[in-house]
Amino acid sequence: MVRSAVDRDDGVMNTTSVLTATPAPMAPTGTALVAARDLTRIWGKGDAAQVGVADASLDVRRGELVAIVGPSGAGKSTLAALIAGIDRPTSGSLVVNGTRIDRMKIDRLAAWRGENVGIVFQDFHLLPTLTAIENVELAIELAQRSTGRRERRRRSIEALDAVGLGGYARRLPAQMSGGEQQRVGVARAMVTGAPLIVADEPTGALDRANGDAVHALLLDQARRGTTVVFITHDLDLAGTADRVVHMLDGRIDTIEGGRS
Ligand SMILES: Nc1ncnc2c1ncn2[C@@H]1O[C@H](COP(=O)(O)OP(=O)(O)OP(=O)(O)O)[C@@H](O)[C@H]1O
Ligand SMILES: [Mg+2]
Repeated sequence: MVRSAVDRDDGVMNTTSVLTATPAPMAPTGTALVAARDLTRIWGKGDAAQVGVADASLDVRRGELVAIVGPSGAGKSTLAALIAGIDRPTSGSLVVNGTRIDRMKIDRLAAWRGENVGIVFQDFHLLPTLTAIENVELAIELAQRSTGRRERRRRSIEALDAVGLGGYARRLPAQMSGGEQQRVGVARAMVTGAPLIVADEPTGALDRANGDAVHALLLDQARRGTTVVFITHDLDLAGTADRVVHMLDGRIDTIEGGRS
């Protein structure tokens, strides 16, 4: 592993070099990979204020598989976007993989996210003009700039193989089914070796068989030690998680399950 990162008190991660897909530096054993305290995300002010999430506190252990469930508008996507570093909270504190990200500047946050989080979207978000393998390679290119072209290709082929799409490398998204596109999405999320995968309804646009196949890939990632937080409306899929976070009206209502 040729990577070093130092977390300073101001929460800024100082990464000096990244040459491998080894997961980003670990927080000390036993600490949470995600530590959210009183996270609140509000848009607008006064009477016009829209509350996305209010006072959400949650610890996610390293290697844990956590499902977020709840009715439409409950704040699931808002919370997931905060944890993934796509969005920043209005207030509250958030430490992910040892780094405080709630006040991090947007450009730093983007760089941090590339190294630390793999994201799977409900509607895949593959770039339509890039082939399957190019979509996967791009994740490495953005997150780990010093990785050479051949190494990027090698790891991307490996990731596509891992999701059962070894033969689809040169296909464009439009030439693949939804299930296949989402498997490329999972390959892209895991190829950088990020310690955290956040998936917002990754099976929401898929039929049962394809949804189950994509979910199985996420379970496999969790089994290998990646922390996975996923949103679902499917209670069977939620039932596979170590813990289930129930959201209601922007708040964490109850948290079910869990090892002590
Ligand atoms: N950019 C935004 N500006 C204003 N309000 C927003 C914004 N994004 C989300 N909201 C509001 O925050 C609340 C929570 O939305 P969120 O998307 O997190 O719900 P959700 O639980 O993911 O719902 P769904 O199951 O339909 O995806 C909703 O009331 C929504 O209207
Ligand atoms: Mg949502």
